[in-house]
Amino acid sequence: MRGKLNRRTSIIILAMATIVAIFAIAVHQDRTVEIEIIRAEAWAEQYPDQYRTYLQNEEMVRTTFGGSEPIDYLEKYPELLTIYDGVGFSIEYLRARGHVYALEDVIHTERGKPGASCLACKTPDYVAMEATHGSALYAMDFNEMAAQAHSGVSCYDCHRNEPGVLHITRGHLEKGLSHLEEEYQMKNLVCAQCHIEYFLDPETKEVTVPWKYGTDVAEVEATFMEWNYIDWVHPQTGGELYKIQHPEFETYLGSTHQQFGISCVDCHMPRITNDAGEQFPSHHWTSPLKTVEASCLGCHGESEAELVAEVERLQGTVENKTVEVSRQLVALIEAIAGARDTLPEATLEEVYQLHRSAQIRWDFVFVENSQGFHHYDKAMSYLNEAEAMINEAMSLLP
Ligand code: HEC
Ligand code: HEC
Ligand code: HEC
Ligand code: HEC
Repeated sequence: MRGKLNRRTSIIILAMATIVAIFAIAVHQDRTVEIEIIRAEAWAEQYPDQYRTYLQNEEMVRTTFGGSEPIDYLEKYPELLTIYDGVGFSIEYLRARGHVYALEDVIHTERGKPGASCLACKTPDYVAMEATHGSALYAMDFNEMAAQAHSGVSCYDCHRNEPGVLHITRGHLEKGLSHLEEEYQMKNLVCAQCHIEYFLDPETKEVTVPWKYGTDVAEVEATFMEWNYIDWVHPQTGGELYKIQHPEFETYLGSTHQQFGISCVDCHMPRITNDAGEQFPSHHWTSPLKTVEASCLGCHGESEAELVAEVERLQGTVENKTVEVSRQLVALIEAIAGARDTLPEATLEEVYQLHRSAQIRWDFVFVENSQGFHHYDKAMSYLNEAEAMINEAMSLLP
């Protein structure tokens, strides 16, 4: 009797399991997989310290070279109007601010948005949309999909629904990393999901990370050449160019701090103390120059004022050199524009190539958000290379 019942029960269970399995496969094929994104507010009671510091991302932090005030770069650096002519960054280009603004800022920018993949680094809802729509998502209408998103960068982006556990939620980073041999700490990789160079595949609009040959600017450039990718044709010169976006991770690699095993999180999420005297990592991602004691003085013997002065000295040198090279780029663009109709084709080709290589090096430094601090030597060497290339191009022009 008992055996019979068991057998019947197991048949029923088996039948039910089969139905569930078939249903799951069908759902998967239709790509209607649903992911639940638990919102930041929902963790407020369980993780009050993380939630409270997360809300501080609304603050407008101010420092000499960094911070979160959305200053207008086109006003501050008018050279950009010429350098970026023909691409969205000459229409609007504001400084990055706190994570909680990511979604509204991408919705409101006047730059063009070729597809829903522009949401990839702005909201955790993107992960859910990708699960639902698969790769069809990338080229879907930006505005339509943005209307379905609920928040800027949030807990799910780094933790999925397990606060405290680190996860990579972005497939584009996994693909990018598959080209690299070295392994990196998760405390760098969670940030590298978004703080890297990327481009949208011209056909599918998939977010693509150009690391086939590595993460240095010459290796990124070599990847673009191999993949036959260009960002735009400059309207004044007629030459093809690349556009770089926020390569914080790539710049940081190989720096003194990285070689000592320090991660983005060590400086940008220092351990601070709550009212009960307990330590926790701050979830206010901003300039570490506002948290020097917690972020730096555990290792550095200088006073806070001395260390900040040293950082600003390095940043000031990079800033001056960046502006100097911007002006040289403008002069080069004007010289090419004036000579392009009369130059022999082979010379024009050579000049285009030098301009492209110089500009990608300058851009890598200009758009990186630490003003050279993350890796001063790298920033200066890219700028010096850019300058040498501009001089060489100029020597070929009348
Ligand atoms: C050794 C400490 C340190 C490490 C490690 C570090 N940073 Fe920074 N970061 C800084 C400092 C200092 C600045 C400059 C802030 C300023 O100018 O006010 C900065 C600036 C930034 C900014 C711009 C912030 C602003 O307020 O303008 C971003 C974004 C950033 N870092 C991301 C990263 C990422 C991503 C990583 C890891 C790949 C990283 N940082 C690693 C110290 C660090
Ligand atoms: C941008 C990535 C990122 C986001 C977004 C983020 N966290 Fe974290 N979180 C981290 C990292 C990195 C650590 C580990 C820090 C460390 O070990 O120093 C961490 C650690 C934690 C911890 C463990 C604390 C401890 O004492 O070790 C908790 C809990 C946590 N986060 C909760 C949250 C909650 C809640 C949210 C949303 C309100 C959130 N996190 C959003 C990156 C993130
Ligand atoms: C899911 C994408 C995403 C992840 C993951 C991410 N960021 Fe960001 N981050 C952004 C975007 C987008 C902005 C700019 C938001 C804006 O301007 O609206 C930004 C801005 C910042 C800023 C500038 C804020 C200010 O006040 O100056 C800092 C600093 C920063 N991120 C650090 C980090 C660090 C450190 C990590 C890893 C722990 C990290 N981010 C992980 C997308 C991300
Ligand atoms: C875990 C230890 C550690 C932390 C945290 C740390 N540093 Fe360093 N820093 C070092 C070491 C080690 C060096 C290389 C030796 C030296 O020059 O003293 C270094 C070098 C530097 C230099 C020299 C230039 C360079 O980049 O090599 C500056 C400037 C600097 N750090 C600033 C900072 C600031 C600002 C912070 C906090 C935002 C910070 N450091 C956090 C260990 C640390």
